[in-house]
Amino acid sequence: MSELSLDRILQSQGFGSRKWCRQLISDGEVAIGGQVITDFKSAFETTNLSFTLFEEEWLYREHVYIALHKPPNMECSRKPSHHPGVLTILPEQFSWRDVQPVGRLDHDTTGLLLLSDDGAFIHAQSSPKRHVPKRYLATTFDPINEKLIAQLKNGVQLHDEPAPLAAISCEQIGEHQCEIILEQGKYHQVKRMLAAAGNHCTALARIAIGELTLQHLELESGEWCFLEESEIALLR
Ligand code: URA
Repeated sequence: MSELSLDRILQSQGFGSRKWCRQLISDGEVAIGGQVITDFKSAFETTNLSFTLFEEEWLYREHVYIALHKPPNMECSRKPSHHPGVLTILPEQFSWRDVQPVGRLDHDTTGLLLLSDDGAFIHAQSSPKRHVPKRYLATTFDPINEKLIAQLKNGVQLHDEPAPLAAISCEQIGEHQCEIILEQGKYHQVKRMLAAAGNHCTALARIAIGELTLQHLELESGEWCFLEESEIALLR
């Protein structure tokens, strides 16, 4: 349980500097339980607190855990160079509260991307020790055959890697499509593994992280949602 003054609450949620948040409150833009609060020093218990700002309702969240269905031609970097950054899809206050992608997808890779402002969560999810399996749907230039599937499952040697890398599982889905589950998250890993096995990846989508699937989240390309406790648990 923790009580915070309304200006601190707004600031913690990424709605701007303390000074700006005080101004919003004094201007009568913030309401709690249907009542406009103009005293920025008024304190509220933050657990399950909901408030409206400019008549839009928000739930207080100590940290945010977000799933985004990443569209193509967007970069995960916070300082993108050639394509717009994925953070531009989210409301501005998430950048203020330092929300960042958990790991990266290539600019042309689509699918499930997690974002958060919880450093411990980001660290745990990105740690190579965690072995969170990531499931990808890869489309290839050449038809897929049993030899390719076997190579990916047995391990292929990538440049700069000390030992061959293997998929946990690899299943043919169509003539030019396979589902690959990887435990590691090396740079361009799926594309490089397919290239090392003699094929070429023409499209790549991440469809699941741990047990959390895009299908379960029902997100269209470019859509995002907050993850609730039960969904975060699927990542462990
Ligand atoms: N493997 C890749 O090659 N690219 C990605 O974006 C993710 C995994």
